Amino acid sequence: MTKPRILSGVQPTGNLHLGNYLGAIRNWVGLQDSHECLFMLADLHAITVPQNPADLTRNTRETAAAYIACGIDPKKSAIFPQSAVTMHSELAWILNCHTPLGWLNRMTQFKEKASILEAPEAHKMLEDKSNSTLDALTETGRQLNEFCALTPDLKGSAAGTEMLAKLSKVVGLLQKEFLLDQTNKKNLSKEISKRTDAAQLGLYAYPVLMAADILGYHATHVPVGEDQKQHLELARDIAGAFNRAYGTEFFPLPEPLIIGAATRVMSLKDGTKKMSKSDPSDLSRITLTDDADAIAKKIRKAQADSIEGITYDEKNRPAVANLLTIFAALSDSTPEAIASEYASAQNSTFKNALADLAVEKLSPITTRMRDLMDDHSTLDKLLKDGANRAREIATPIFEETQKMVGFLKV
Ligand code: TYM
Repeated sequence: MTKPRILSGVQPTGNLHLGNYLGAIRNWVGLQDSHECLFMLADLHAITVPQNPADLTRNTRETAAAYIACGIDPKKSAIFPQSAVTMHSELAWILNCHTPLGWLNRMTQFKEKASILEAPEAHKMLEDKSNSTLDALTETGRQLNEFCALTPDLKGSAAGTEMLAKLSKVVGLLQKEFLLDQTNKKNLSKEISKRTDAAQLGLYAYPVLMAADILGYHATHVPVGEDQKQHLELARDIAGAFNRAYGTEFFPLPEPLIIGAATRVMSLKDGTKKMSKSDPSDLSRITLTDDADAIAKKIRKAQADSIEGITYDEKNRPAVANLLTIFAALSDSTPEAIASEYASAQNSTFKNALADLAVEKLSPITTRMRDLMDDHSTLDKLLKDGANRAREIATPIFEETQKMVGFLKV
């Protein structure tokens, strides 16, 4: 019986971190015997934001070294740079032609990377502010009219004149405030369209390329961290759109595999933000190239809170919950079980235990990665073999796709 096929990948953009390890790479290891596995180095995706070419080459090898050091066996799984298999870009073009812009406009990652994620919230805040200014203006205007109508005797008096002046002043101030609100709204809209205009087409089309990665191998399962769920749903929609267009079931609808205790590892500096390669603070993440001292230091300095004892409460204690999740994932346990083990421990005791565990689990990976990085030619040969295996699978599928679309084969 043929095994179900898996495809996944990591962008070789450096700073490979604990989130990439626990949310993705580590989970791939156990799937290698039960599935036919393709693990690519997503270099085409990496260039959707500016990259230094020498760093991209280096990071591609380093990410491959990380896959192998984490337990991906190149004999069982195809490991290859995405750009080495031209199908990815070619199929992406065909799929671009079956993807409505409206679907891409919903993608959160594009909005995050183009720095427009907070735009709707900022718009709403300004709208609310301007509405309440308008309400205040209407109410003061009403009071002013009422005052004039109800107290004709007072109008000529000194007290009446003073009152009238006061109310008129408030109306004037509110009118100014209202005009300022309108200017702020206009400026915000301008800033958003400036940022949207500056974002690259590649960044916008990123999820379509991702769909091509998966569909081009007829992969049925995609092991990823939680942040990729929306992209996976889009890949299913694109597969459906293509199938409908050609009256076929050619592309299987891929299923996300979101596995393990740590599907969304958070920043060590802010328990409400995802751990990411691009966070300006190095202390926000543990990377797979950190040595034991760096790991221990980052965990010791990690955000916690002043509540006594250790409890797992994602909503009210996000930073501690994140450390518990990491602990649980590294020890194949659950955050609740770790919390009850350390219930009466001080933060420092708990953090020291976590630091020891992280060093124990990550140090062998770091050492192995360094050894692999010392031998470029062996690593490059493995990637070349991986690319050949990937091409063997991709070529017939892509040829069939071209035929369905109606491209003349010459
Ligand atoms: P990338 O490079 O951002 O992340 C690689 C993998 O790591 C997971 N991940 C996390 N998991 C838990 N906690 C975190 N803080 C965290 N940060 C990242 C991601 O979910 C991902 O699984 N678009 C993909 C690469 C890609 C891909 C594909 C994946 C390109 N084509 C096709 C699957 C199938 C990405 O940006 O990964």
